[in-house]
Order: sequence, then C-alpha cells, then structure tokens
Amino acid sequence: MEPIPYSPAPKITVIGTGYLGATHAICMAVLGFDVLGVDVDERKIAQLDAGEVPFFEPGLSEKLREAIATGRLRFTTDFDQAAAFGDVHFVCVGTPQAANSAAAELKYVHAAFTSLASRIDRKALLVGKSTVPIGTAARLARMVHELSPAGVDLELAWNPEFLREGYAVEDTLHPDRLVVGVASEWAEARLRRVFEPLLAQGTPLIVTELATAELVKVAANSFLATKISFINAMAEVCEATGADVSLLARALSLDSRIGGRFLKPGLGFGGGCLPKDIRAFKHRAEELGVGQAVRFLSEVDSINNRRRTRSVDLIRELAGGDLAGVKVAALGAAFKPNSDDVRDAPALDVARLLYLEGAAVTVYDPEANRNAHRAYPDLDYAGSLAGAVQDADVVALLTEWDEFRRAEPQQLAALVAHRRIFDGRHALDQDLYTGLGWEYRALGRPYQPSTARAATQDGRVPRPGAVVGETPQDARTT
Ligand code: UDX
Repeated sequence: MEPIPYSPAPKITVIGTGYLGATHAICMAVLGFDVLGVDVDERKIAQLDAGEVPFFEPGLSEKLREAIATGRLRFTTDFDQAAAFGDVHFVCVGTPQAANSAAAELKYVHAAFTSLASRIDRKALLVGKSTVPIGTAARLARMVHELSPAGVDLELAWNPEFLREGYAVEDTLHPDRLVVGVASEWAEARLRRVFEPLLAQGTPLIVTELATAELVKVAANSFLATKISFINAMAEVCEATGADVSLLARALSLDSRIGGRFLKPGLGFGGGCLPKDIRAFKHRAEELGVGQAVRFLSEVDSINNRRRTRSVDLIRELAGGDLAGVKVAALGAAFKPNSDDVRDAPALDVARLLYLEGAAVTVYDPEANRNAHRAYPDLDYAGSLAGAVQDADVVALLTEWDEFRRAEPQQLAALVAHRRIFDGRHALDQDLYTGLGWEYRALGRPYQPSTARAATQDGRVPRPGAVVGETPQDARTT
C-alpha cells in the first residue's frame, strides 16, 4: 500500500520508563523528536529528570544527558499532560508472568491504555510496544474506541521491540528490522514518519496487521530460547557419553545454516523476557486451541531449568559430595553480563539452591549486587571478586562478566581455600585452570583432572580434553 505522506514531526510520549521505555524515549529524543516520558513511579521520573538512569545499561546515561541538553526530552507522572502533548503515544509497560499462572499479566497494559484513551480527545495514535498475547491489540483497539472522547479517531498500532539488555542503545538506534502492525494507511504513514531516521539508514520495515506484529515478538523469543535449549539438551547427552558440548557447538556453528549465535551452552537463559514469553505463548496457544503446535516450548523450559539443578550437582561433586557448610563463591547474579537485571536469573537461582543445601554462599556481581540483595537478602554479598573468593571451597562462575573471564587463575588460587572451579558459562580456559592445579567442571564437558596434580601422582600429564580413565590414545580414537 502507498503510504500517505505526513511531514510534520509528531510529538511523542512514551508510557513506562523501564529498560524498554526509557531507552525508547531517550533515543527518540536523540533522533530529533520532542518526547515526554511518562511513568506512575515518581522516584523513577525524578531520577530521569535529574539525568540519572535508574538501572544499569551501558551507554544510556550519556544518551540521556545528550537528550536532556537538547531540551527535547522531559518526564512527567501526569497523564493529562501526556494526553495533551502527544500525537503518537508508545506504551512500553511491563507484562510480567501472572502470579498464579503461566499467562502474561496485562494489568499495567490495561491501565496505561485506559489512562490515555479516556483523556485523548483528538486524532492520535496509540502504539503498543509491550510483549502481549496474540489478540490483545485487537481487543485494546475496541476498548480505546469506546473509552476515548475521540472515538475511532484514536487509532491503535503494535510495534514489537527486540532490544537486548546490555545493547539497548545500539539495538534501538540500529535495529535489525522494524515491525509495525497497523489497521490503516494513516497509522502506517505516522509510524513511517516516526521511524524515518532509521528507515533512512536502510533498516528493513515489515508492515503487518495487528496479530502478526504481536506474534513476531513471541515467535522470535521462542526460537531463540529453543536454540539455547537445543544445545543444552545436547550438553545432557554429552554428559552421558563423555562428549564435549563446547566442541560440538563449535562444529555445528560452522554450518552456515545453523550459525553460532544463541548456541552457547551453559546455565541457560533467564531475564525478564525469554522465560515468561515462552510460557505466556504456550498458555495463549492453548486458549486458541493450538496448544499442540507449541507444546515443545514446555520441553524448552524444562531443559533450561534442569541446567540449574545440574549445576548444583556439579558444584556438590566438586565439594566432595555434600554442600553443608561449604563456602561457595558465586560469581555473578545478573541473568547475563552487562546487565543488573536479576529477573529469573539462572545465576541467582543456583546461588539460592546452594544456600538451601546448606552451603555458605557469597555472591559478587559487578552491577547486580543491589538487585540481588533485594531479591535474596539471606545470601551474603561481597563488594569485590577478591572478597567473594577469599577462603572459598568452590568458585562458581555463573554469569560471564569480562571481569571473571579475565581473572588470573594464579591470583585467585592465592585467595581460595581449594582450587575448585565450576564454569557455568564455558567462559574460562579449561587448560589454563587445570594446568595450575584447579579442578575444573563445566556442564556438558568431560571431567578433566587438574593436570598439575595428575602429573605429580603418576609423572604423566594427560592430554588436555582427555576423559578421566582414558589413555590419550583412547581419547584420540573416540
Ligand atoms: C531477549 C531477546 O534477545 C530480545 O530480542 C527481546 O527483545 C528481549 O529478550 P534479553 O533478555 O536482553 O533479550 O537477553 P538475550 O541477550 O537474548 O539473552 C537471553 C538469555 O539467554 C540470557 O540469560 C543469556 O545468558 C542466555 N543465552 C544467550 C545463552 O544461554 N546462550 C546463548 O547462546 C545466548
């Protein structure tokens, strides 16, 4: 369809100033639009107004200060102001997992659309960015038409967001693609105008109706989760056979049809999106009568959760079979590096499971200690890597921050009580550690004794990568 030209730059509001909304508001102002960021949380708004990002996201503070300096970005908690100001309103509020079911909790989405729609009395566009169950946008469209003094002149569109935490600025300013679900040519033209700076740099745009736009997001996250769980399922098979999932992943990744991204084995996925999105998708598909089509997502979820309990098994084995009273240094709490987000974080889950088995767990995360402490105040927290590993019986790397990757095994060895390390993210150089006398364990990799110790026992240093009990010749022929 030919877009209707619409030249004046629309004024933009962004409702919800979490990871997604704050980044979107800031980047839209950087791109040249007048933007009003809106949230019900007065503290968050005061922080943003003062040029302070309320969470850790690399590069975002600089962009916030840049945007505020242009005079194009302001923040408010006042919905009357938002309704009067905006021509295009982006709704970026959270859709967490509901308290008692796998479904998505839509109360924040409903509240945001209701607050806006009941106040807007002229032609305007409401754009949902939150991840919602398929069919939500169509239902909300009917709701806002009934609620708004503008009636059907208040249109609704959906524009799923694919930004990754840790790369939020880059993903917003240089996305792989833009997807807009619209119900009219006018809505499409407005969104083309909003995204003009990104379209000008060649970003592909997919224009759909509302349902496809909603589905793109959950389908993308389901695919990514499935890819991670696939390689972690292979890790389980490796554990039963003595094969090495790291080498397997490398070999698979060189097939260009498969590719290496999201094929990194380890502790699995967490965060505020992948886990709850696959559960909500499955729940919605069942409601729609197509539950069988996505039943495999239950298995994807189970494989992912089993990596957490299996990690505890390996740490217990490293500790000699019993975790009671064992001092464990838990390196990492965030669900992934370069984030302070601990929602459904595999790292923190493992720390909690170790604690429940009686281990004395000391957590250190370069950015997420505060959020982790709020979630699990019973665990101990250290302010530095050295503080966490001091006198540890076992060191467990649970989130692959650069600080942990770059740590010198020799320096760590001087601090710990025992040289035992669990590498939950395949982030360390196994040979380097075992060569310095560390017992090293990782998910899906064969047990390899410390070469330092083996050499003193029988005078022979086993070939790196050889499986316990095998001669080097055996290992070569398997
Ligand atoms: C994800 C999607 O990537 C993004 O498009 C969507 O908008 C929101 O959800 P995010 O949650 O920020 O983004 O994290 P992502 O980088 O996708 O990582 C998700 C999880 O998978 C992390 O816990 C990460 O550690 C894990 N992961 C990722 C693996 O275990 N192995 C991999 O190979 C890749």
